[in-house]
Amino acid sequence: MQQVWASCNQSLLPDGSKVLLTPAQWNQYLGDVWYQLIFSYRIPQNGVVVEIAPGDVEKVGLGFHKQGFSGTYYVIEPHQKSLETITAKYKKLMPSATIVPILKTVADAISELPTHVDAIVANHPLDDMIVGKSLNTEEFKDFFLKCMKTVMTF
Ligand SMILES: C[S@@+](CC[C@H](N)C(=O)[O-])C[C@H]1O[C@@H](n2cnc3c(N)ncnc32)[C@H](O)[C@@H]1O
Repeated sequence: MQQVWASCNQSLLPDGSKVLLTPAQWNQYLGDVWYQLIFSYRIPQNGVVVEIAPGDVEKVGLGFHKQGFSGTYYVIEPHQKSLETITAKYKKLMPSATIVPILKTVADAISELPTHVDAIVANHPLDDMIVGKSLNTEEFKDFFLKCMKTVMTF
């Protein structure tokens, strides 16, 4: 079984114990954290949400799934395969929502967004955006895919 050493969540456990999680368990754990944020910030269930740079990973969407989100959910992701994968996952996770995929970087996507949104969400996007800035178009296509595969198999 593939496992990922989730060292960064150790401090979140009350007893400080170490945990070894599968990628699916880690995504679910973060989905639950996102649900708590969604609840705390009272993001409306039928509102308008924009997620930036999910890759093909449903961490944030798992939180909205738990909330029963039924509004409009924009997904900004410039990597085509990742966008297709995450859109399919989100349509299953949020069957009552309208999922709007946008195949662009966040800077280029702004003009396609509505003027009012209830929340803009992203799971640690800044590091990836900074890395993305240093890549040319060809490198950009491959980099994040290779990066995700590496993380999942060490
Ligand atoms: C490592 S992946 C997904 C990480 C995901 N947020 C998570 O927490 O697991 C990073 C993603 O950021 C996307 N990305 C990079 N630069 C971007 C930008 N300027 N605007 C939107 N997405 C960007 C890449 O296409 C890639 O799919």
